[in-house]
Parts: sequence; C-alpha cells; structure tokens
Amino acid sequence: MNILIASSEAAPLAKTGGLADVCGALPKALAQLGHQVTLILPAYRSTKKYPSEPTGVELRIWIGGREVRGTYRKCVIPEIGVPVYLVEHDSYFDRDGLYNSNNEDYGDNCERFVFFSYAVLEAVRLLDLKTDIIHLNDWQTGLVPALQSIYYRDYPGYEKISTLFTIHNIAYQGVFPAAAMSLTGLHWKYFNWLQMECYDHLNLLKTGIVFSDGITTVSPNYAREITSSPGGCGLEAVLRNRRDVLWGITNGIDTDEWNPETDPFIEGHFSVETRGIGKLQSKLALQNQMDLPQRPDVPVIGLVGRLTEQKGFDLAVELIYRKAASGEDVQWVLLGSGDPILENRLRELASRYSQNVAVSIRYSNELAHQIIAGSDIFLMPSRFEPCGLTQLYSLRYGTIPVVHATGGLVDTVTDLTPETEADKTANGIRFCHADIQGITWGIDSALDVYRNRPELWSQMQDTGMTLDISWTQSAQKYVDIYQKIRRIRPRK
Ligand code: ADP
Ligand code: GLC
Repeated sequence: MNILIASSEAAPLAKTGGLADVCGALPKALAQLGHQVTLILPAYRSTKKYPSEPTGVELRIWIGGREVRGTYRKCVIPEIGVPVYLVEHDSYFDRDGLYNSNNEDYGDNCERFVFFSYAVLEAVRLLDLKTDIIHLNDWQTGLVPALQSIYYRDYPGYEKISTLFTIHNIAYQGVFPAAAMSLTGLHWKYFNWLQMECYDHLNLLKTGIVFSDGITTVSPNYAREITSSPGGCGLEAVLRNRRDVLWGITNGIDTDEWNPETDPFIEGHFSVETRGIGKLQSKLALQNQMDLPQRPDVPVIGLVGRLTEQKGFDLAVELIYRKAASGEDVQWVLLGSGDPILENRLRELASRYSQNVAVSIRYSNELAHQIIAGSDIFLMPSRFEPCGLTQLYSLRYGTIPVVHATGGLVDTVTDLTPETEADKTANGIRFCHADIQGITWGIDSALDVYRNRPELWSQMQDTGMTLDISWTQSAQKYVDIYQKIRRIRPRK
C-alpha cells in the first residue's frame, strides 16, 4: 500500500510531545512491513538543522482571498527511514515554537494549518506521490479529510484515496472563531453542527472526525472513554455517530531509541540479565547529575512530562510536600516545562527540600532518558492519558510505573493484584483516583514492594522489560484498518 502520513510533528525533526514519537516511529515500522510510506510535515525552524534538498516544486494556495506560495523540501532522516517532505513557508513555520511562544498560541495557527492541509493534498499531485491512504494526525490536519471528500476526490488521481484520522488527544481541538471558516476555502454550508461547527466556532478536530473514512485513537480504552462524557470533551456524540469506524490502537515505542542496552545517553547499559549492576550505575549517575546524595538504597521516583493540567504534576507536588515534610527517605527527580505557575511551584519545592527533590525545568531528551533509566519508580498521575509513552519507556528500562488508571495507562500497565502476582504478569501499580489519596496509595503500595518484597519487585521489572511493546504489532493493526477503510466507502 502507498501511505502518506501527515503530521504537525515527528521526532527527531520537530517535537513537543508523544505525537512526534509516534509519527517518527510508525512510518519506519510500516515500511518494514513492506509498504511505501511518505511523511509530510511543516518545515519548522527545528527541521532546518537536518540535511534536505529543494524539490523545485512550487505550491500556490488561496487562503482567505489571497494567494500564498510555498515549496517542498525533501529529506531522508535515518531514524525515520522513509522520505520526508517538508512544507516550506518561512513566515508561517520558521519560528521559535511549533504552535506557540512564551506559552501564547500563535494568532494565525488556523491559517498556518489550513495552508499545511492544502499542501498535504497538493503534494499528491505536485510531487506525483502514489497514494492509497492519507493518514492524518490531530486537529492540525483535521481539514484534510474535508478537503479530500468535498473537493479533491473529484480530480484524477484522488478518486481512490481514503483518509484515516488519528486522535492523539481530544483535549486539543483546534477551535477558532467562526470567521476562520473563510480561510478554509470551503462553502459556509459546511459550517453547521453536524459538520465543522461546534458552539459557534470552527472546530478542526471535529471536521477531521466527521469527514474521514476511518478514525483511530491511541489506545482501546481511550477509544471507549471519548465516546462518553467527560472523556469526549464535548465531541462524544460526534464520535458515537461514527462508532462503526472508530478503533483504538495502542502506540508502540521506538525500540532503537529506547533501548537500555545501547542508549547513548545513559551511564550503565543493561539487559534483563545485567539489570542489577547497569541500573544501579544509571541511578548513581542520575543522583550525581541532579545533585542528590548518591545512595543506592534510597528509592528514586521520576516524573517527566509537559506541565499541563492533564499530567497531574500538581498532585505529585502535593504528595512530595507531604512525604518530604514527614521525613520519608525517598528521592524525587522531576523534568518538565509548561505552565509557569507549576514551574515555580516545582522550583520552590526543590529549593525547600534539596536533599530529596531535584527539578529541571526545561526540555531535555537526554535527561528524560537518564531519569527513565535511573529511577526505580516512574510516576504518572495523569488526569487523562490517551496512551502515554513514558510508562512504556519505563517498562523497557525496568522502572516500575505507578499510574492513574485512565486511558492508555490501563491498557499498558498491568496492575499488581493477587492474580497478576500469581501468574507473573504484574508490571506496575495503578491507582483509581487522581487525587491525593489515590496517588498516595499508589506510591505507598509501590514503596512497600520495593522495600519489603525485593523478589516480587525484580519479577515485575523482568515482566516489564520483556514485554513486546515495539511498533511491529501496532503497525500491522494500522495496516488492517487501512485495508478496512478502503473497503468501507464505495469510491467514485
Ligand atoms: P504527551 O504526548 O501527552 O506529552 P507522551 O507520554 O505520549 O505524552 O509523550 C511525551 C513525550 O515527550 C515522551 O517522549 C517524553 O519523554 C517527552 N517529554 C515530555 N516532556 C519532556 C521534557 N521536559 N524533556 C524531554 N522530553 C520530554
Ligand atoms: C498525545 C497524548 C499521549 C499519547 C501521544 C501519542 O499527546 O497526550 O497520551 O501517548 O499523544 O499518541
């Protein structure tokens, strides 16, 4: 099959979160299954440090009554392993951030991604890309299924193209004032509550859901959650309407990048067999790097993530204050950036309890690897989590995940219960309520096993480390769905 994947981020070229990890790794896995895959994304400033070549192909799009020009650049990134086209238009994309700077969204985000959406469809024609499926991701590409179904499908070469729309996070919907409808180039008749409108606004995520041939999200449990309130964030009825073509596929991980045996960022390399010594080296190196006392015996609890309401870092802060005030012998290492209020609370916490708490407010892939490798426990108190990747990385590194039982965390972390202990499938701890009681229970349960039941702890580490969480299985599920949606809608 010929698959064109369009995304607003893909690692290592441009990344703010897990969407980039997925769109950086899935293309390679699909290519390894024998498919022709092409990736397309905006030529942000961060992409410019990678080698690329001009295609010489010019792009002209009418947006809001004026012609906007751009070009495509082509590059091959070994990590991605498939051809990548970068849509170049510097005044839209050559900026500090991908979607915002200094925590403020760019005022022209709708226009930027309308342009990108047209550029995706035009690429089929202008770059002569044989295409059976266009696989879209999140609101930034939500207009593509509408443009394909309303305009492009009538043109030669587009008749047989099906669209799959993947929702990575329904909390971000690409909502813009009604007037933005005129940027899309689509007739105002589509601005109605069954199609592109939502509470008097243009909603690009809803547009993608309504017009695509199939919809996936990033775990089966999240696929269920978003069809009712509050998980659907207002789009639950829209999704229920499309239930017959909605599937959940759990993300895999890039096992080359996240491999404790070869990870270039960590101190002690290890496999299941050599975990003891290698993990201890990583732990001591992490303590050293974060200016914490270097002690093998103290449990280290790590957290890495975007500092937003979603990730529940505020709950972790409350828990850490309580634990540190009570003098409990635990070390905490936190890495994140985002909400400035939360950033300050984290800094205060670290300066007050510098012997137990280390905080780094920044984006650092290297430190993320080191925390995941060097911690004993990885805490994810997310209020909601479509899939989550850091708990999967933790499993691979023998770091026990303690997670709120929500979304993909339920599908990926097997909770310790008498049954899962007996059949040796337990690999983490899930707590049921994202509140201080819940998170305290989760961490205390994990600490109890860590301190008092070392054999069980080690067993859980082995179970996590040997789980198959590579992309191979999930990529095959995407292929099955591509095939299904090609059969569902009779093409013109
Ligand atoms: P989300 O996509 O909601 O942010 P995921 O768990 O799916 O959550 O993916 C987060 C990705 O971003 C992981 O690769 C994680 O390591 C990375 N990440 C998040 N915050 C940081 C940070 N401050 N520094 C480095 N990596 C980060
Ligand atoms: C989103 C979700 C996260 C998921 C990632 C990749 O950003 O918040 O749970 O893992 O997308 O699909």
